[in-house]
Amino acid sequence: MRIVVLVSGSGSNLQAVLDAVAAGTLPVEIAAVGADRADTYGIERAAAAGVETFVVNFKDFASRAEWDAALLETVAAYAPDYVISSGFMRIVAPSFIDAFAGRYVNTHPALLPAFPGAHGVRDAMAYGVKVTGCTVHYADAGVDTGPIIAQTPIAILPDDTEETLHERIKVAERELLIKVLGDLAAA
Ligand code: GRF
Repeated sequence: MRIVVLVSGSGSNLQAVLDAVAAGTLPVEIAAVGADRADTYGIERAAAAGVETFVVNFKDFASRAEWDAALLETVAAYAPDYVISSGFMRIVAPSFIDAFAGRYVNTHPALLPAFPGAHGVRDAMAYGVKVTGCTVHYADAGVDTGPIIAQTPIAILPDDTEETLHERIKVAERELLIKVLGDLAAA
């Protein structure tokens, strides 16, 4: 199974995938790791692991449509079986979803459909829920919508900050993503 992983940030979830592949515990070929902006640590992590990288920098394009087209063309060139959005903070175009229908997988740090969007951890704390978690799902053209593949619940502790809670969620998120990728590779 060939995958392309998309990141926007630190790429700690990506690192877990890189480590599992390197350890031989995840039978997946990472064809490339791509980002939507320059200078992401996720891209550095991929390069350090010897994985091919690309940047389709949103800021380099005159219009959203041109960026959409460039992202689709770049990712499609790797002919991935699955595209993984791992902390990729942009909604992709319907054309991208069509091209990778049922093969575009996203991770989110909340129990969807609760608390979608860029601040899933903060929003769960602000609401006052006592349990949140993480979700791996097939992404569609909405914001963190699409069929859910797997979830892990995480209790919110009284002294949690957004950072401590997000760190705990990310530990579970990594395990869940690797489990789902393993299942997809075995299917
Ligand atoms: C993850 O919790 C992801 O779901 C979210 O941002 C975090 C990404 O962390 N939207 P990293 O880039 O993998 O470190």
